[in-house]
Order: sequence, then C-alpha cells, then structure tokens
Amino acid sequence: MDYTMEQYRASARAIRERLGDFVPKVAMVLGSGLGYLGDEVENPIAIDYRDIPHFKASTAPGHKGRLVFGTLEGQRVAVMQGRMHHYEGYSYEEVSYAVRVLRLLGCDTLIVTNAAGCVNTGWKAGDLMLITDQIKMFSQSPLRGENLPDFGVRFPDASHLYTPRLQELARETAAEQGIPLREGVYFYCYGPQYETPAEIRAVRLLGGDAVGMSTAPEVIVAGHCGMEVLGLTLLSNMAAGILDQPLSEQEVLDAAAAAREKFSGLVRACLRKM
Ligand code: HPA
Repeated sequence: MDYTMEQYRASARAIRERLGDFVPKVAMVLGSGLGYLGDEVENPIAIDYRDIPHFKASTAPGHKGRLVFGTLEGQRVAVMQGRMHHYEGYSYEEVSYAVRVLRLLGCDTLIVTNAAGCVNTGWKAGDLMLITDQIKMFSQSPLRGENLPDFGVRFPDASHLYTPRLQELARETAAEQGIPLREGVYFYCYGPQYETPAEIRAVRLLGGDAVGMSTAPEVIVAGHCGMEVLGLTLLSNMAAGILDQPLSEQEVLDAAAAAREKFSGLVRACLRKM
C-alpha cells in the first residue's frame, strides 16, 4: 500500500499534540537488545505506536513498540524503541514509515543501531562497527511506488547515505573514549532465517562486512528526505559458516547485553558532540 502525504501528516499531528512545544532533532532507531537507551531519556514523553494513527506495532523480541521523546546528552531526541522488520510481514514502506513522520516533526538527523553478523573474518563478535555504506540491491526499495515530492526527488542520490561528517565525528569520539571501532559495509538480508554459509561467502565477495535484517530501508528513506545518518553496528556473532556452531537469537541478545556499556557509551558520546 502506498501511504499518502495526508497519512504522514496525520501521524505527525497526533504526536505533536502530545509534545507541546518540544521539537525533536535527532531520531534514533535502536536495534535488538539496544532499546534500553530509550529508558535513559530525560523528561521523557513516551507514545505507544498503537496510539499513533497509521503506525504499525512491532512484534520482534527485544523491541518495545513505542516512541520516546526527550533529552539525551543535551540533544532533543526521538527514540524508536522497537523497529519494524520486513521479516515480520511489513512492507518496506511500513518499516520506514516512522522515519518520515519524525522528519515532519523536525528531526534532521537519524542514528541507527543494530546487531549484525560479522562477515569480515579479521574481526570478532563483540566488536563495534561504524557503517560506512550499505548494500540492499536484491530487494525492493522503500521508495517504490508514487514519489512524494514533499519528502524528496524520484531518483535520489545515494552516494553518501551515511553522512561523512557524522562518520568522522564517530571516529573521533570512539578514539577519545578508547573504544575500538571497525568500519565497513552493512549488507542487508531479508531473514528471518540466518544466512547459509554459501550466502555469507557471497556477501563477502560482494563487499559486505556485516550482515543484518534491518536498518537499510530506513536509511534509504532518511536519505531521500534529506536527513543526515549515523549508523553503528554491534557485531553480535560471527556470520554463518565462519565458526562451526549454529547461530541463535539468544547469542545475539547475549552479545547485545554484554556490549551494553560500550555501545551506549559510544552512542551517548556521539550525541553529545553532534
Ligand atoms: N545475520 C543476519 N542478521 C543478524 C545476524 C546474522 O548473523 N546477527 C544478528 N542479526
């Protein structure tokens, strides 16, 4: 289904009624096991997705399904606690709906975080990665269908989806904090099954360093409507076939829990410098 401009505006209006004169600047989409940052927002105004017209619920484990507005490290943030995934049955348009609504509300920056499989065999599970670019070429675009020119052009440039200035800011911040930060390409796969070892070999040949089931659709939409984007990945597990062990969701959630301090420390420090 194509959403109309009126639907995006209706969602934004309903949220604005709850926000008073608060105008968010930085939208944050937090991945598996990372949603706790939303609980650390000061003076929070939390709105359930259920209470926003045209929003869909999020069903994935570790995803709460609400928007939290408030202040974090001195920034006016809008935190999506829980994102939608294509594998849950949502279209890419549904998956990225909230990004456009947050743009209408005033956000000009998007921070995306996720947990992903590590494809690069020189790295290890538990490492953090700055996303420098993404590959999502084997599935539909969230921009498919009628273009809404109030958001952006029909054929948007995607040369710098992940904003170079924010990449540099993250590099500097990680160095200051003494947090090692890998850099690489996020390769999107639909899921929900983890990849096969042969698929991971293909991903590596094609230039992917990390593989995951989220993020790329939202980032395409953010780029289309002119938002700056910072992407940070927790490499929660070695991708399929690298180690002689099966992949499991528990492993991903455990890794997210173990990296909690390091990851939230980096995200918070980046916010402070934005
Ligand atoms: N593959 C895809 N998505 C993921 C993985 C993985 O290995 N780990 C966490 N999300």
